[in-house]
Amino acid sequence: MPLMTLTIDGHEVRVPKGTTVYQAAKHAGIEIPIFCYHDRMPPLGACRMCLVKVEKMPRLQTSCTLEGTDGMVVSTTSPEVVAGQEAILEYLLVNHPLDCPICDKGGECPLQDQAFRWGPGRSRFVEVKRDYAKPVSLGPVLVLDRERCILCWRCVRFGELIAGDDALKGFERSFASEINTAFTLPVQSKFIGNTITICPVGALTAKSYRFISRPWDNREVSSVCTHCGVGCAVHLDVRGNSITRVRAREAPAVNDVWLCDLGFFGQAYVGREDRLHRPLVRRDGALVDATWDEALDTVARHLRAANGRAALLGGGRGTNEDAYVLGRFFRTVAGTNTVDSRVDLAPHGASAAVPWGMVSSIAELGTADVIVLAGCDITEDYPVLWLRMKQAVDRGAKIIAITPKRLEIDRFITHQLVHRYGVGAEVLAALLGGRTGRRRMGSTPGGVSDEALQAASAVLMAASRPIILIGRLALDAPDGYEALDGLQEICRRIGAPLNVMRGKSNEFGAALAGLLPDHGPGGRSLGAMRADLESIWGEPVASERGMTAPEMLEAGARGILSMLYVVGADPATAVHHRRSWTEARAGLPFLVVQDAFLTETAQAADVVLPALVIAEKSGTVSNIEGRVQRIDAAVQGPGEARGDWAILSQLSARLGRPIAYSAWGEIFDEMRHLIPGLEVDQRIPVRGIQDGFQARGPKPETPPAESVTGYPLTLVVGDVLFDRGAMTSRDPAIADLAGEAWVMIHPDDAARGGIVDGDAVVVSSPAASLALRARVSAAIARGDVYVPRGFDGTPVNLLTEPGRATTLVRVRAFAPAGVGGAGSRAR
Ligand code: SF4
Ligand code: FES
Repeated sequence: MPLMTLTIDGHEVRVPKGTTVYQAAKHAGIEIPIFCYHDRMPPLGACRMCLVKVEKMPRLQTSCTLEGTDGMVVSTTSPEVVAGQEAILEYLLVNHPLDCPICDKGGECPLQDQAFRWGPGRSRFVEVKRDYAKPVSLGPVLVLDRERCILCWRCVRFGELIAGDDALKGFERSFASEINTAFTLPVQSKFIGNTITICPVGALTAKSYRFISRPWDNREVSSVCTHCGVGCAVHLDVRGNSITRVRAREAPAVNDVWLCDLGFFGQAYVGREDRLHRPLVRRDGALVDATWDEALDTVARHLRAANGRAALLGGGRGTNEDAYVLGRFFRTVAGTNTVDSRVDLAPHGASAAVPWGMVSSIAELGTADVIVLAGCDITEDYPVLWLRMKQAVDRGAKIIAITPKRLEIDRFITHQLVHRYGVGAEVLAALLGGRTGRRRMGSTPGGVSDEALQAASAVLMAASRPIILIGRLALDAPDGYEALDGLQEICRRIGAPLNVMRGKSNEFGAALAGLLPDHGPGGRSLGAMRADLESIWGEPVASERGMTAPEMLEAGARGILSMLYVVGADPATAVHHRRSWTEARAGLPFLVVQDAFLTETAQAADVVLPALVIAEKSGTVSNIEGRVQRIDAAVQGPGEARGDWAILSQLSARLGRPIAYSAWGEIFDEMRHLIPGLEVDQRIPVRGIQDGFQARGPKPETPPAESVTGYPLTLVVGDVLFDRGAMTSRDPAIADLAGEAWVMIHPDDAARGGIVDGDAVVVSSPAASLALRARVSAAIARGDVYVPRGFDGTPVNLLTEPGRATTLVRVRAFAPAGVGGAGSRAR
């Protein structure tokens, strides 16, 4: 890139042509005060704080908007500049309330800092300041103190330029200008926490942090958000033993400087009073407090008696090291390969047929020219990845969405192919046909028009940097195998890698560390790596392939398993069919649950072991692109709760086959011997794992969908960012954002049932009924209804039935006499 030389405050600065004066000064270590400028957005020139004097220019210039030129001579400290900066600050403070002692931004406020450093020291304005009723609630998490706002427009521009959700806007003019939401409704955004971070004053603050702490009271701990699988780098601010707030930690390859609101506001569960404090064992039918010795002795006795007929379910919420030790324990001490972290695996779905993870890097999403979202609801599943995709859209990228539900980012989607549930594979085949000429013209697979398919097909086949993502809405569909085949064929044709987008939390890390029934650490098949495992572990490793999560449940129901050990999971609400869990539990002689809360599964356990959560552990986690990142324990766990790998280590000692480690680092070093390329802050080569994944078995047989009289609608189940699960329901902000459990129904189907938006309705399948709130929307196809999973009070897995890939339902207006209320399971 051609360079230019500027002289700033007497220093020569060589920077690429096109660099602004502000950036050139920053490059040279010269500080210029700013308010409206943010380096992730184009300059605006609104606040005029960044004034500089440029030789041969008559007036002071805003350095953030001024492009430098070769030979330019700039002063940031001349008397005119100082006077200009003082005048701007004096002007900004005319109406600012100067309530720093009670403002949450106090101590980390650019306005406070700059008034101190560049301000006039005293104001000539003695008039009464503008006064507003305060604070204004802008939704479940955000508060606005209007009189503090300096109208820099950062928050508005973040919504317009970065998130694309237009969450906040400016209203009125001049003296009366203020920031608000359209119609003063609660703010609609998944990213609003970022506006709190970038607001240069205390105008936008978080309800959860209001009057909670001061920056100097907080201890900053480096961690990673493990809610969704993107693995955003965060700072956990800790005061005493409480997490006071979460902030984004700059990670250019992952979340850059942003977070989603689940990451920002979803940590309150850590400090909840109802965390498990001590072990519980079942005595005379009730769970009662026990010592660790009693609890571990009981578990050890049952493990010994199980003689290899034990199984492990879960492990995806812990660290990589937790998962690795769990795998090692079960494959050696417990003598079984029946371990599976994929608790919610659909028995009929294609998820088990392909390893998860992104072959493309997260950063590449920002430079793709075509992005395909096949059954991937990106803002609900991996929201921060949308911010990367938005960058690609801004550069002209086209997005093709093949989903059974219109995505909320639809205005950025160039080809939105919304189809009836269960025919996504047909749409993908038609996309391929568009190139080969095999497609039957005029056909409308899944309700998608021929013109729409042709246009999307042409864009896809002409792509030079395509990125293809397949998500759970496609993989778990009745035609998931065919959709996967179709997408793999498309990838072959256009030379694009397949990114398999499923797995929340640290589920990628759990699979990587070996919590799969037929693959060991690093995703290598067990057959190929047994010798390596035995040589490092110094113990024989079970030789038979283990059972997958659905197979475990089946085996449990048939009395084949002697015990099930559940770690950091709530299969009662998470497995695909509730009945599978109920029957499995009935057939299981002994159930151990190791978790942080007394979940529904834990309530039915024989022994409950209190476990630490991620914010209380040190170690590593892995994100959806295979990036391994470090986390540090931020707070101490409650009562006698212990870390997962430490519990397994103690159990192994009781069984006379100790698996002992001094710290997480020792486990990580051992893992490095088995997982090539495992390094902190590096990506595991996901393509290598995909290539090495064993050829899949045949598609499981499921009876074809047959119509059932009285159940005219097809149920679509998907994930949402804000839900009410074991952790999120204990987080007031997230529970508020999630609201009530709901069902989305097409306006025509709703009209037939006399249902209007917001009505309480009963969704019934032949298996059960749920009381939900109706969202009437054309985002879903006629004939389909969409219900999110993750609402533990109204678990959608009650509606589905084992052995059926398609669930048919009906939706009726709520009739109190027939139904017991929200969450009813009456049938
Ligand atoms: Fe700027 Fe904050 Fe006002 Fe938004 S609320 S315009 S970020 S000062
Ligand atoms: Fe340059 Fe606001 S920072 S005009």
